[in-house]
Amino acid sequence: MKEDNVRIGIVGSKFAADFHADSYRRHPRAELVAVAAIDNLEPFAAKWNIANTYSDYREMLKQQKIDLVSVCVPNFLHYEVTLAAAEAGCHVLCEKPLATTVEHAREMRDVCRKKGIKLFYGEDWCFSPSLRRALEIVAEGGIGRPLYIKAKECHNGTHSPFAKAKDTCGGGSLIHLGIHPVGWALHALGREGSNPVVEVIGKCNDGKQDNFVHKDNGGEDFGLGIMKFADGEFALVEGNYITVGGMDDKIEIYGAEGVLKADLTFGSNLSVYSRPGYGYCIEKTDTTTGWTKPAVDEFFNLGYVDELAYAVDCVAKDQEPAYYAGADLGVACIEIINAIYQSHRTGAAVKGRWGEKT
Ligand SMILES: NC(=O)c1ccc[n+]([C@@H]2O[C@H](COP(=O)([O-])OP(=O)(O)OC[C@H]3O[C@@H](n4cnc5c(N)ncnc54)[C@H](O)[C@@H]3O)[C@@H](O)[C@H]2O)c1
Repeated sequence: MKEDNVRIGIVGSKFAADFHADSYRRHPRAELVAVAAIDNLEPFAAKWNIANTYSDYREMLKQQKIDLVSVCVPNFLHYEVTLAAAEAGCHVLCEKPLATTVEHAREMRDVCRKKGIKLFYGEDWCFSPSLRRALEIVAEGGIGRPLYIKAKECHNGTHSPFAKAKDTCGGGSLIHLGIHPVGWALHALGREGSNPVVEVIGKCNDGKQDNFVHKDNGGEDFGLGIMKFADGEFALVEGNYITVGGMDDKIEIYGAEGVLKADLTFGSNLSVYSRPGYGYCIEKTDTTTGWTKPAVDEFFNLGYVDELAYAVDCVAKDQEPAYYAGADLGVACIEIINAIYQSHRTGAAVKGRWGEKT
């Protein structure tokens, strides 16, 4: 082992763990030393050539020397795994949402800060190459002052049983999918915490029989939120499970002198017409026959590769994460999602101040 490698332990072994492992493998200084999970452990370790496996993540933290822990477990476990990793002296990269409650999210941020632990919040959209280019064009004045953002993540339903149950997910499609547009809108319009969100309005359905399609989901399968920023800008954010045909991640930015649109998932420059179909197109497509646009390096385009490389580099150089990759953004996202749910329940706008740097 080289002295300056960053030793990684992954908690989780399925969907998110897979794109974490893939991204770390691309980084010359990231060393995947261990994985802990309650299932799929050996196939995952074999796929990524990870020598040390644990059915209990606490044992992994005790026995292995780890610099950075990737938290790739269901939402309700982010809190306890992050706090245990911080207690063991490891830096943490936590998947979205940071936690299932505002209280837990704030405690995670505060405990890590007190212990000198870097807590990275995994909002991959902030690292997506096309969205970064979009914000460069905005920053150089290419569309004038940005006034309004429309952003959504939508697909046809979650693969994870933990994400279907309200108590293990923290809600439904808003907290699980809509949190991407919420986090990215904060990054795009919030000016690193100096232009916070001051009011939200939200509407969603109520889970189970109230859902449009997914009657077995405890949380909503459709949700919308409107965020108003202190300087007057608006963002309309959406997360739903009623969208068939593949994961649909899109943003639009309306400026005083221009418009900018990006399509994260259907923007491939490959077009295929296939009668028999083929293996894989994009996340959550259920058919590959007829005309399709297969992703070219999906993990890179969605931002995972650069997000995880950034965390490795920060640990290696002992640098604190920037606002868009850190715990303040993760906490603000949960606070805003919570306020959207509150607005839905009460039918009223909810006022606050969310997204400031603490
Ligand atoms: N950034 C993104 O776009 C993105 C995409 C997918 C998932 N995620 C997030 O990643 C997290 C995991 O989601 P997923 O889709 O991989 O879920 P999944 O259901 O596919 O996998 C859950 C994993 O957690 C492990 N696990 C469950 N309980 C555990 C425990 N007590 N100790 C150790 N491991 C345990 C399981 O072994 C499994 O490997 C979620 O928080 C989800 O929101 C983020």
